[in-house]
Amino acid sequence: MKKRIGVLLSGRGSNFEALANSVAAGRIPHAEIAIVVSNREGAPGIQRAEARGIKTRVIPSKGLEREVYDRQVAAVLDEHKVDLICLAGYMRLLSPFFVAKYPNRILNIHPSLLPSFPGLESQRQALEYGVKFAGCTVHFVDENLDAGPIILQATVPVLAQDTEASLSEKILKEEHRIYSEAVKIVLEGKYKIAGRRVLLTS
Ligand code: GAR
Repeated sequence: MKKRIGVLLSGRGSNFEALANSVAAGRIPHAEIAIVVSNREGAPGIQRAEARGIKTRVIPSKGLEREVYDRQVAAVLDEHKVDLICLAGYMRLLSPFFVAKYPNRILNIHPSLLPSFPGLESQRQALEYGVKFAGCTVHFVDENLDAGPIILQATVPVLAQDTEASLSEKILKEEHRIYSEAVKIVLEGKYKIAGRRVLLTS
């Protein structure tokens, strides 16, 4: 049986699209994207999913208390029997309820080498700080922002001529690559968790 992935997004959806491409190309084998959920109406990521014939659901989050909202999302994910939840530019903190319901089954991609530069505009934070290497992180999600055990990271050099836009573009390319790799590792169960360390097994 194919493993079922649920994607949560809020915007552009390029990481979703990279995952969908990897599934289609067999780089994430024995898997399918069962549902894409957005908290924002008009998120381009939803249009991208529809164009691929993938099921979508928009659940507006405005004005709803965090757990009340998350229960609605969980109901949709359960309805679609998802095995793994991938946050792909999902700009919301998850409630303790949601995190506890799916232990080690929620992944996130973040455009920095965590624990540096969590939160918003991480690429700008990295440039302004003056780091020589930036990058991205795929990690399991806990109830804290951009935290949780790290599965994979990739680095990119920060060059003198880099701008926020050029750095973001370089990082995004790596995001697309390592998110699929991490999803494959997790779906195939080729890891174990020791404290905060995710140890890859063969
Ligand atoms: C990506 O750069 C992702 O790493 C970031 O939002 C962007 C979404 O782009 N996520 C976070 O900052 C999470 N804290 P996308 O919609 O094209 O995938």
